[in-house]
Amino acid sequence: MAVSYLKRDSSKKHETFSQEDWSSAYCNVEKELDKSELKLVKGSIPTQISGTFYRNGPGRLERGGKWVHHPFDGDGMIAAFKFDDGKINLTNRFVRTKEWLEEERSQKFLYRGVFGTQKDGGLLANAFDVRLKNIANTHVIKLGDELLALWEASSPYSLNPLTLETNGISTLNGVLKNGEAFSAHPRFDPGHHGKERMVTFGVNTGPKSTIRLMEFSNEGENAGSLLSDRKDSFNGFAFLHDFAITPNWAIFLQNAISFNPLPFLFGKKGAAQCLTSKPDGNPQFLLIPRDCGKFAGEPPKTVNAPKGFVFHHLNAWEENEKIIVESIFYDDFPSIGPDDNFRKIDFDQLPEGTLKRCEINPAKNAFNCTTLSNQCCEFATVNPNFEGLKSRFSWMATAENKVGNGPLQAIKKFDSLNNGEISWSAAPRGFVSEPVFIPSQESNSEEDDGWVVVLVWNSIRSGTDLIILDSKDLAEKAILQVPISIPHGLHGSWVES
Ligand code: CO
Repeated sequence: MAVSYLKRDSSKKHETFSQEDWSSAYCNVEKELDKSELKLVKGSIPTQISGTFYRNGPGRLERGGKWVHHPFDGDGMIAAFKFDDGKINLTNRFVRTKEWLEEERSQKFLYRGVFGTQKDGGLLANAFDVRLKNIANTHVIKLGDELLALWEASSPYSLNPLTLETNGISTLNGVLKNGEAFSAHPRFDPGHHGKERMVTFGVNTGPKSTIRLMEFSNEGENAGSLLSDRKDSFNGFAFLHDFAITPNWAIFLQNAISFNPLPFLFGKKGAAQCLTSKPDGNPQFLLIPRDCGKFAGEPPKTVNAPKGFVFHHLNAWEENEKIIVESIFYDDFPSIGPDDNFRKIDFDQLPEGTLKRCEINPAKNAFNCTTLSNQCCEFATVNPNFEGLKSRFSWMATAENKVGNGPLQAIKKFDSLNNGEISWSAAPRGFVSEPVFIPSQESNSEEDDGWVVVLVWNSIRSGTDLIILDSKDLAEKAILQVPISIPHGLHGSWVES
C-alpha cells in the first residue's frame, strides 16, 4: 500500500488528484540560481551520495502573455543538484540557444514550436515558416568535459558542467554537422567491450529513413572521442525517440506512423502534430549490429513488431539467439490537436503506457510479447550498471490508480522475477517526474542497492520538492524544498563526482 507524503484534503478524499493541482505546475521558471542550498524538511541526506543530478525540461512556457500550445515547446532549463557531504545545492540556467536569446530580447515568440505553438499574426505569419526552433529541452548528459543539452531534431548545446554557462552548439569535435539531428536518448554501455561507451543515434527521416549510429568513448582521457559510426537506411517514415542496446545490437522500434507535412507548411499545425498512426501499418524492430560486437559490419535485420506506439524503452539484453527488449507501449499515438488546451487534457481520453517485454527471434522474423504490468507508467529506468544486460529490477513513474490513465503521482519499483511491486506515492496533491537511479558505490552491492531521486510538484505550496528514496524498499530518506518552482519536466541523469 502506497503511503503519501502530502496530506490529503479531507473534502476530496476520494479523488486521486485534481486537474487544478496538476496543471498548477505549468509556470515559468523565474530565477537562475548559483549554488543555492536546498532546505531539508524531513529525514537526512545520505552522506555516501556524492555527485550531481542534472535535469532538463521546459522552463519558459509563456512570453508577453502568450502561452505555448504544448509544454514540450517550452525552452530548456537545466537544473544541477550537487550532492556534497550531506548537503544539496542547486544551480540552474536556461540553455542560451540562439532562438532563446532572440525571444528574450523581443519578449515574444518569434518561432513556431514543433508541438503547435504559433507566432503572432495568424496563418499568414506562420505559413511556410519551416524554421525549427532548437529548444534544447529534452535531456541533459555529460560526455567528457561537456554537459550536453539534447533535443532530438537538431544539434546538442554544450554547457559548462559546473556553472551551466552555455558554450554554444556542439559538433562533438566535428562529428556532427551544424543542425544535424542528434537523439535525446543516448545509452550508456557500462563496459560490455572493456571501457565505458556512449551509444547514440540521429535520424534523417522521409519516405526512406537513415539512422546514423555513433559510439563515443566515455572513460578516461579519450572520453568524447568517436569510436564508431555507421549509417543504415530503411523504407518508410521513422519516428524514433529512443532505442535500446545490448553488447551486440542497437535496437529500434519503428512505429507504424505517417507524417503529412501540409498542415505544418500551411501554418495550421506544428510539425509533431502532423504525425498520425497507421492502424494498418506494420511496425518493425530495426536491429543494427554494433561495430564493437560479434556481428560488426553485417547488414541490419528487420523483424515484425507488435502494434502500438513506443516512446521509451526500459532495457534490452541477449539470451542465446534471442533479443529481449522491455518497453512502454501505448495503444495508439497520443496526438495533440490544434484546439486542445494542455491544462485541460482529459486523461481518460488518452491511451496509457504499459510495460511490456518482447522476445525477438531474428532468425524466424518472429516476436513474442507479454505484458509485465498494466499500470499506467512512464520514465522507467534500470540500474545503469545493467544497461544492455539481463536486469531484474526497474523503477518508474506511475499513475496513482492500478488501472486507467492518470497523471504520474507515484514511483514504483518493479521486480520482473515474480512481477512484484512496491510504490511510493505523492498523491493526491503531489506529481512525480522521471526517477533517476543512483547506484551504490559499495563493493558487492546488489542490483537494487542505491537511491532514487525524483522531483515532485508539490501543489500545496506551488513548489518543487526533491525526494530521495532508498531504491531497495522505496523508504523515504529525505524531502527537500527546491528554491525555484520547476514545471513538469523531461529527462535527467546522474554524474558521480
Ligand atoms: Co524521452
